[in-house]
Amino acid sequence: MTIEQLIKARKAVVGVIGLGYVGLPLVRLFALKGFRVLGFDIDPAKIEKLRKGESYIKSIPDSLLKKFKKRFDATADFSRLKEADAIIICVPTPLYEDSRPDLSYIRATAVSIGKYLRKGQLVVLESTTYPGTTREIMKPELDKAGVDYLLAFSPEREDPGNKHWTNADIPKVVGGIDERSRKAAAALYGSAVAKVVEVSSCEVAESAKLLENIYRCVNIALVNELKMCFEKMGIDIWEVIAAASTKPFCFQPFFPGPGLGGHCIPLDPFYLSWKAKEYQFATRFIDLAGELNVQMPFYVLARLEQAFKAKGKAIGGSKILVLGLAYKKDIDDPRESPAFKVIELLEQKGSAVVCHDPSFKKLPPMRHYKHLKAKTVELTEKELKAADAVVIVTDHTVYDYPWIVKNANLVVDTRNACKQVPSEKVVKA
Ligand SMILES: NC(=O)c1ccc[n+]([C@@H]2O[C@H](COP(=O)([O-])OP(=O)(O)OC[C@H]3O[C@@H](n4cnc5c(N)ncnc54)[C@H](O)[C@@H]3O)[C@@H](O)[C@H]2O)c1
Repeated sequence: MTIEQLIKARKAVVGVIGLGYVGLPLVRLFALKGFRVLGFDIDPAKIEKLRKGESYIKSIPDSLLKKFKKRFDATADFSRLKEADAIIICVPTPLYEDSRPDLSYIRATAVSIGKYLRKGQLVVLESTTYPGTTREIMKPELDKAGVDYLLAFSPEREDPGNKHWTNADIPKVVGGIDERSRKAAAALYGSAVAKVVEVSSCEVAESAKLLENIYRCVNIALVNELKMCFEKMGIDIWEVIAAASTKPFCFQPFFPGPGLGGHCIPLDPFYLSWKAKEYQFATRFIDLAGELNVQMPFYVLARLEQAFKAKGKAIGGSKILVLGLAYKKDIDDPRESPAFKVIELLEQKGSAVVCHDPSFKKLPPMRHYKHLKAKTVELTEKELKAADAVVIVTDHTVYDYPWIVKNANLVVDTRNACKQVPSEKVVKA
């Protein structure tokens, strides 16, 4: 049977490599559509949990895992890749300290697949990366196996915490290293998602994902800049955005904040700027947006300092309560969250910082922030009153903002979370 026939008959086995925030929802997608799914990860703790029917991702509760338990197995044994007809790769694509793309996870995965690649298998890369990765990095490694296989790129468009769009409804862009590969990948996703958009090459598919993220990164930088500009003029950026959003065409609102977060927007644009250098091209918008967004935690601190000054206080020696550690509201992902930079800056200035996030009992271990002293606390009236200022970094829905404003001495609000509670105690930042 060809791969297309196997997919049509729901007999294709789908392998997913990297069972994180992207991989596990993909497992759910294919398993609930009736495919047998094999999940691969190098993290034994994840495999053990999944085998016990326990999830580690908020969007996939244990009860949901149960629904497709019979069709899903998780393993760290990569020789089982042979069992899969299609292999989808969702491993991390971080940056090195100097902002160079770290493709070590993709390279390691290509080596693992290459060892067991068999004739007719379809391999699809989903990790966000620069144009050329599938053809220049994946293909040479897989070619070493000396068998006929199919290779494509299809970017993930997961929006954590978004209840309106699941990966089954979001159109999937697909590009192959050749037509055969594209058609096979389109058949695979076509069997599970509402719409597949075929493009002429994997490079176009890789670039489309970068455009989507760079568009957000640049526009967020723009509103962050305007926030600082309007603040000097005594104009509230949030009111300006709400007014501009009433235009029924040619305007999409973006919102300012304490800095970028997550595994995508702060990192992905630099994949393109790095690749562009190979072509002696400077991606100035990306660099400028990066500079602006990176400044935001410093701006939050400056606003706090101003507010303290007006009260005759200083940051040094103050007690600060930081609310929210996840990088955006109602999710449990702390990666690249600006909360950690804000805490670091406060501690450097001599503040005693405590923090709270409904998803974290303890400060999650972060690669670049091992030195932080801040401890998590229960969110109580006593803690609110004891803090010289409360800094809202993440506007989780569960927070009772009127109660927070009532009991806090000063609130530095980076998300306009207290919009319904006008008070002199609230400083927007
Ligand atoms: N999280 C998002 O919202 C999102 C959205 C769109 C795209 N992406 C992209 O998807 C990719 C994955 O992101 P994520 O958020 O799921 O990351 P993640 O860190 O949550 O998950 C990655 C998983 O891959 C595993 N892994 C690492 N190396 C491996 C290897 N060699 N073999 C097998 N497993 C390995 C890790 O143990 C981890 O479980 C990235 O390229 C990211 O940019 C993420």
